[in-house]
Amino acid sequence: SLGKATNIFWQECSVGKLDRQKLLNQKGCVVWITGLSGSGKSTLACTLGRDLHGRGKLSYILDGDNLRHGLNKDLGFKAEDRAENIRRVGEVAKLFADSGLICIASLISPYRRDRDSCRALLPESSFIEVFMNIPLEICEARDPKGLYKLARQGNIKGFTGIDDPYETPLNCEIEIKPEDGVCPPPAAMSSQVVTFLEERGFLH
Ligand code: PPS
Repeated sequence: SLGKATNIFWQECSVGKLDRQKLLNQKGCVVWITGLSGSGKSTLACTLGRDLHGRGKLSYILDGDNLRHGLNKDLGFKAEDRAENIRRVGEVAKLFADSGLICIASLISPYRRDRDSCRALLPESSFIEVFMNIPLEICEARDPKGLYKLARQGNIKGFTGIDDPYETPLNCEIEIKPEDGVCPPPAAMSSQVVTFLEERGFLH
């Protein structure tokens, strides 16, 4: 039949994941950054990418907003589209991690179920969920793209945090949150992640 593929096989090659780890002197993994729009996901992703680069570690950023211009340009924001968006990025992130890179995925990824299916794709402990636990009021006050304003006016329907849910992670590895009402600066957020990666042996 011309429907779903059958008679397909898995091709093994002689250069494996461990060979690539040795070559790069790092272990591939996925740093999955989740949180509301305006919570600082992209800022953390960029700062982390730069800090890792500075230490001679190879990383690559998969940004939800950016991928929606290409790979995911056929998808909108209804629940099933978000699920497919997360599924695709999860599969791509898995490939990057297998290639030996530290893959930094930055997407709202509002539904627990979708994030958990990405986690399930990766080998044990190489999916590192980073929760940007920044209150909606702060994200909305920042409103870097003016989208919260449009959503409040009813000009964007199904906006996360306004009229579409964000499901808080229950099992995240890292939580970024304000202290005494002050959000950590980018360098502090990044160093929280770098320390985790170091302690877990991903950087050598
Ligand atoms: S998701 O939920 O993970 O599939 O979203 P993601 O791929 O990360 O894309 C989020 C960016 O899309 C813009 N945008 C919206 N966000 C949430 N809800 C609605 N309805 C919406 N419409 C457009 C918004 O700029 C998000 O960017 P970030 O970087 O998160 O601010």
